[in-house]
Amino acid sequence: MNKNIIFLGPPGSGKGTQAQKLISDFNLVHLSTGDIIRNAIKQKTKTGLQAKDFINNGLLVPDEIIINLVKEKILATKQCFILDGFPRTIVQGKALAEIARPIDIVIYLEIDLDKLVNRLSGRLICPKCGRSYHEISMRPKVDNLCDNDQSSLIKRIDDQPDKIKVRMKTYLEQTLPLINFYQNQKILYVIDANQESQDVYNDIKKVLRKIDDNY
Ligand code: AP5
Ligand code: MG
Repeated sequence: MNKNIIFLGPPGSGKGTQAQKLISDFNLVHLSTGDIIRNAIKQKTKTGLQAKDFINNGLLVPDEIIINLVKEKILATKQCFILDGFPRTIVQGKALAEIARPIDIVIYLEIDLDKLVNRLSGRLICPKCGRSYHEISMRPKVDNLCDNDQSSLIKRIDDQPDKIKVRMKTYLEQTLPLINFYQNQKILYVIDANQESQDVYNDIKKVLRKIDDNY
């Protein structure tokens, strides 16, 4: 695969779920800024310590920190990548455009906002590989264990109702303007993310096939 992809969408729209599917079928690197920060916090790195209060309270980590982190990750790989959760502000979008790896396509996972609270409050994640599950709609094969590496699943601290509210507000105020930003560049494709996960995935592949026969 020789296309660099952005997944754009509100918290809980399925960015992580769809990225996991795509990397298991194609040779792409998954760069989830949320997962990268959560790992940095676990490892108590300087970036992790700087970011901890922001992420736990549902607020965006300052642009400067996150831009440096992503730049480092992108420049460290020769493979094509999926950016999941980056950019999230216009400042980040502009900084990304300066990095010497062009973005080929932005996939916007559009979803009715009232569906998101249920998706997020029922979410379970694997602390090791980052894979998402749902207590009701996407259960693991064995209760509470990751299908991938059998780690015990956990809830994310920012999936509590008051934090979800802050994340939604942050999304609407700071991230939504990126839709116009990429629409103007004519690389934005809209996917109906209200559908069943496999149908969302099929639609994503259809769109990718428009720009690359290999998908
Ligand atoms: P991040 O980890 O990126 O969180 P998010 O954007 O809020 O998105 P989520 O991971 O919550 O949702 P998702 O779209 O991946 O959905 P998922 O597939 O899991 O960021 C967390 C924090 O890190 C931010 O708040 C900020 O503090 C910081 N941060 C990260 N990037 C940053 C940046 N660029 N700048 C500054 N700060 C940054 O699915 C959700 C649930 O729904 C799961 O339970 C899943 O099983 C279920 N589900 C998925 N698809 C379907 C479906 N089709 N039908 C039914 N259920 C489904
Ligand atoms: Mg995610």
